[in-house]
Amino acid sequence: MWFPYLLLAIAYFLGSFPTGYLVGKIAGIDIREHGSGSTGATNVWRNVGKVAGISVFVTDFAKGAIAIYMMQSANWLQTSLGLGTVEVEQLSLFVIGAGMLALIGHSRPVWLGFKGGKSVATGVGILFMLNWIVALSAFSIWLATMAIWRTVSISSIAAAASAPVLMWALQGNVIYSSFVTVGCIFVIWLHRSNIERILNGTELSFKSESKSS
Ligand code: G3P
Repeated sequence: MWFPYLLLAIAYFLGSFPTGYLVGKIAGIDIREHGSGSTGATNVWRNVGKVAGISVFVTDFAKGAIAIYMMQSANWLQTSLGLGTVEVEQLSLFVIGAGMLALIGHSRPVWLGFKGGKSVATGVGILFMLNWIVALSAFSIWLATMAIWRTVSISSIAAAASAPVLMWALQGNVIYSSFVTVGCIFVIWLHRSNIERILNGTELSFKSESKSS
């Protein structure tokens, strides 16, 4: 029964892989000292360029998706690795545990003094694995608000606020819907400095700040 706990630890370390920081380093900067200071895809796009930002988004998305897929496959993995055939009980609780630890790993990576990103891309990867229809619907809200305000943080907050509503409406699983609610509150909480800047009119606009390559 230790196996799912090992996967929980792996989920944290997967989430904590500092993609944005490393991409920044390759480009010769410490991303934490530029723009919003976040190691996320938006800040990398803003300060390093489009290709770098998209690469960080895709990798951070994958971290969340893999953490969930890994735990969803716990029974199969355990058997395939020859580590026993006792089925993991309450698998959905371990799945949401893996999701939460991947989110925390991304925003609080042990490698960077617990200061990382805002867990949006990792959160989308997690949501996609739990319910892809909800993930795509939340992404549509992200796109629509982006078209209006051209400010990533506003779109991320709007998508994070809509995801739990969509989840409760479209997904029958109470455990997953509760997790998405808690996870999205966490993501919005990580945006508190953005909220402050939005309210006082100093938030970084994507259009004016972004690099094109
Ligand atoms: O995905 C993070 C985004 O919502 C905000 O990023 O760098 O503007 O704080 P940033």
